[in-house]
Amino acid sequence: MNTTLIYAHRGASSLAPENTMPAFELARSAQAEGIETDIQLTKDQIPVLIHDENLRRTTNGTGFVQDYTYTELRLLDAGSWFSPEFSDCYIVTLDEFLRWFKEQPMFLNAELKTNVIEYKDIERIVYEALKKYEVVERTVISSFNSDTILRMKQINPSIKTAFLTSTKMINLPDYAKSLGADALHVKHRLLDKKLVKSCHKEKLNLRVYTVNRPSHMKKCYQLGIDGIFTDFPNQALEYRKLIHN
Ligand code: G3P
Ligand code: MG
Repeated sequence: MNTTLIYAHRGASSLAPENTMPAFELARSAQAEGIETDIQLTKDQIPVLIHDENLRRTTNGTGFVQDYTYTELRLLDAGSWFSPEFSDCYIVTLDEFLRWFKEQPMFLNAELKTNVIEYKDIERIVYEALKKYEVVERTVISSFNSDTILRMKQINPSIKTAFLTSTKMINLPDYAKSLGADALHVKHRLLDKKLVKSCHKEKLNLRVYTVNRPSHMKKCYQLGIDGIFTDFPNQALEYRKLIHN
């Protein structure tokens, strides 16, 4: 059976503030095979790792990422909302993250958050950064916005892409294929045997988010899907050992 790879969702985000360096380092020490992170652009077009367009939930700032320069955003506290011991965490740039990631034997899922705000040129900016750190081959670019998939494939037809969705649609694998995507990333409630079969028939990788419950992990492993995104990489590894050994 296919071994399901474990991607730490926003880093090991159950243990440290999501999308911060401690969360990524903990994903590495948990021995997750991959890291998933979310990318938005600042006012000065610096790609930064933060899930929401708005700063409110995960920093002590207000307003939108796109309205601040990185110099301004760097001053924000991106950890105290999670726990006071992380008060020195800040919003990381993609560049800083990749400098670290380059040395880690891991895969990357870079999710471009272009479904709410269409950040101009984000695809090219992110691609150039991946190229600079020579990590294109071990990265998959995903997005809920199909235009992002199409643009990435125009920039480099061989870069791996994934269409992300939480919506049940007929012929979802066909749709992903029509975009030129290499994978489908779906919310866990969309997962069933039929989807696994049709993805594999279409030679599409299938990965599922966000898989935090042991029963959901077990289902993913038994169906032999290609990857899961989880906030709990340690537990996901333990459960995988039980299934695969
Ligand atoms: O990439 C999988 C997952 O992260 C997509 O949803 O909202 O957690 O970024 P979200
Ligand atoms: Mg994400």
